[in-house]
Amino acid sequence: MLVTGGAGYIGAHVIRRLLAAGHDLVVIDNLSTGHRQAVGDVPLVVADFADGETLARLGEEGAFGAVIHLAAHAEVAESVAYPERYYRNNVVRSLELLEWIRQAGWGGVVFSSSAAVYGEPAAIPITEDHPTVPTNPYGETKLSFERALAAYDHAHGLPFVALRYFNAAGADPEGGIGEDHGAGESHLIPLLLRAALDDKATVKIFGTDYPTSDGTAVRDYVHVCDLAEAHVQALALLEKKESGFFNLGHGEGFSVREVAGVCALVSGQRIEATEAPRRPGDPAVLVASSRKAREVLGWKPRYPALQEIVGSAWDWHRNHPTGYSKASS
Ligand SMILES: NC(=O)c1ccc[n+]([C@@H]2O[C@H](COP(=O)([O-])OP(=O)(O)OC[C@H]3O[C@@H](n4cnc5c(N)ncnc54)[C@H](O)[C@@H]3O)[C@@H](O)[C@H]2O)c1
Repeated sequence: MLVTGGAGYIGAHVIRRLLAAGHDLVVIDNLSTGHRQAVGDVPLVVADFADGETLARLGEEGAFGAVIHLAAHAEVAESVAYPERYYRNNVVRSLELLEWIRQAGWGGVVFSSSAAVYGEPAAIPITEDHPTVPTNPYGETKLSFERALAAYDHAHGLPFVALRYFNAAGADPEGGIGEDHGAGESHLIPLLLRAALDDKATVKIFGTDYPTSDGTAVRDYVHVCDLAEAHVQALALLEKKESGFFNLGHGEGFSVREVAGVCALVSGQRIEATEAPRRPGDPAVLVASSRKAREVLGWKPRYPALQEIVGSAWDWHRNHPTGYSKASS
């Protein structure tokens, strides 16, 4: 199995779960936002995932049963400022990889897609047949690659599973791995927990005038270990040569203020927050229906409680206050 982006936050959790399920793995990652330490003992090739020479060399050692394609640029605000980077990495390079997979005859693709493909939801919870109208370049690039996967399947019979993650959060309670997006961190829970560890840090709440119970945006948080589990089930679907799109979320939303309250409770710390205007393209509410993943993949999330998700993230952050750099020293 080839895993792109296995040195990243979600990838590190996915490779541990795949190993436990008995898969042989090779990770390809250019470490642009990932960490060597996150990969553990899995063979790591440090390269761009679309590098032809590297893929040729890897292919000489045998065909891959499937490629799990997690690697991407994944910051919404950055995608608005630098769309060229996003189209190049998430679309152009990903298409080069896809064409390589087809020509090499590798088994299929599990793709890390996103709730960002939906844009502003017309109905909650969001089901997979909801219209896909992204509101930022990041979501556009995810949708473009999903469409390429569907077209390749139609034309060439290359099966794919696109997993549309909602908000990944938490950390493997036993793995010594967690979320470390460094200074570029944009996710709410790590920002809140880092602020809990640092008296001088404040967290911005973007938008306090949304039509929600407390005016702040509502999101669906899913434990990263539950996301990882879905990849094992996606591979089983690929083996049957079946394809599909699947939401991965809990079907329950929490507002920014509610999440801040749980982070303060779990950490036992006061967390400073300041109010800021809404960010363009940020919907008021994003909550998934994951019924299809439960019914077709047999996905059963093990960590539905937000407090548990935050608790596992807190364990990681307080034990690794400077992320992996501290862990390796
Ligand atoms: N974190 C979330 O809440 C979330 C939600 C929805 C979707 N996703 C998707 O899940 C995937 C993983 O997200 P993450 O949060 O773990 O991000 P991450 O930045 O921690 O991981 C991405 C990994 O890909 C690698 N990478 C990027 N471009 C590369 C390239 N050209 N060649 C080789 N390696 C490359 C990075 O070094 C990094 O290790 C992404 O595709 C992201 O869009 C994440």
